[in-house]
Amino acid sequence: MAGKVKWVTDIEKSVLINNFEKRGWVQVTENEDWNFYWMSVQTIRNVFSVETGYRLSDDQIVNHFPNHYELTRKDLMVKNIKRYRKELEKEGSPLAEKDENGKYLYLDFVPVTYMLPADYNLFVEEFRKSPSSTWIMKPCGKAQGKGIFLINKLSQIKKWSRDSKTSSFVTQSTKEAYVISLYINNPLLIGGRKFDLRLYVLVSTYRPLRCYMYKLGFCRFCTVKYTPSTSELDNMFVHLTNVAIQKHGEDYNHIHGGKWTVNNLRLYLESTRGKEVTGKLFDEIHWIVVQSLKAVAVNASPSLTSSTANDRILKYNLINDTLNIAVPNGEIPDCKWNKSPPKEVLGNYEILSCAFLRRPGARMLMERGGYDEELAQGDGADRELRSRQGQSLGPRGGRSRDSGRTVLTTWK
Ligand SMILES: Nc1ncnc2c1ncn2[C@@H]1O[C@H](COP(=O)(O)OP(=O)(O)OP(=O)(O)O)[C@@H](O)[C@H]1O
Ligand SMILES: [Mg+2]
Repeated sequence: MAGKVKWVTDIEKSVLINNFEKRGWVQVTENEDWNFYWMSVQTIRNVFSVETGYRLSDDQIVNHFPNHYELTRKDLMVKNIKRYRKELEKEGSPLAEKDENGKYLYLDFVPVTYMLPADYNLFVEEFRKSPSSTWIMKPCGKAQGKGIFLINKLSQIKKWSRDSKTSSFVTQSTKEAYVISLYINNPLLIGGRKFDLRLYVLVSTYRPLRCYMYKLGFCRFCTVKYTPSTSELDNMFVHLTNVAIQKHGEDYNHIHGGKWTVNNLRLYLESTRGKEVTGKLFDEIHWIVVQSLKAVAVNASPSLTSSTANDRILKYNLINDTLNIAVPNGEIPDCKWNKSPPKEVLGNYEILSCAFLRRPGARMLMERGGYDEELAQGDGADRELRSRQGQSLGPRGGRSRDSGRTVLTTWK
């Protein structure tokens, strides 16, 4: 389609604007015709609310799916994953297989979680089964570690419950609803410190699901060494890996921001734990990403603020690679597009097509990049899993892209 992409954003971030300008795209305001709108989550909620009833036209594209909160809000994520498991179980899918203790073999990737105050009684029942465990309380609608605390005594939660019950108005509002999850008290440590991962996943379509993992995600470290000791239960520098929390710590490093690239993590793990186990770990991470996306229709809104120079470069490149996939060749978008990009345009993204395999010894190479449901269904995800049970695979796990029933659209 001829013409230049007309863009608009309500997020004044140089990593976005520089990318649009580099492509020679034309900036417009939201009231004019636009093709590409990079919006904040508030804007997407307003624009696509029932009242406005806004619908995208064929040549418009936005950076969120309207129901992104199905995965990003803590209570909804848990609900959706629980429902997804149940559905698979009902269908008799091998993905929903359980071990002799009734634990999911492949779908056990969310710690035991309850909604509070709604599931208070269920939680108490579970708590009493293992009274020495620690639990983590998180407000459903908050982020960046805000409002999170740890508990290991029922009295702490009883007080919280009493307080919220006396105010029925507050209990109704989602702001005051919490999730409580079993605290994972034996995390993998590096240099004695706890860390988590910021992984960027681009979802270009849900029907069929097609998603890409950015190879340059990063690890975020705590500034204080980890201890499961209950005397440190209130010390959030030990337990919460969020940069928003850690940057207030005395030992926070403002140059590298307590971050490591995922690639560094991989190399570190390969040298300390071995290649095979590291590969399996990353396959399992990819598996979780795909399964979570399949459980919902979703999006996420990772911070585009750059806290260090490297951060800025990373985020600029992230947006650059994202736009290359989402708006191929910088053309005006067309809703009828159904393009699977060739490897050359993926930049630092990889397709999550191999994420079905988490069998030891059946590690699939992720080099083809991203998860493509059409490709996966060419073989049938379930069948793929079934056929691999007890069967050892070659390094490429069998099929080639061309052998699937899906004919991929040419990438212009
Ligand atoms: N079940 C758990 N066990 C151990 N640590 C946890 C657990 N849940 C959360 N944490 C720690 O707390 C941090 C914050 O939790 P989480 O990421 O769920 O909330 P958030 O960062 O406030 O919100 P969001 O990630 O949705 O923006 C995590 O990065 C992790 O370090
Ligand atoms: Mg978080």
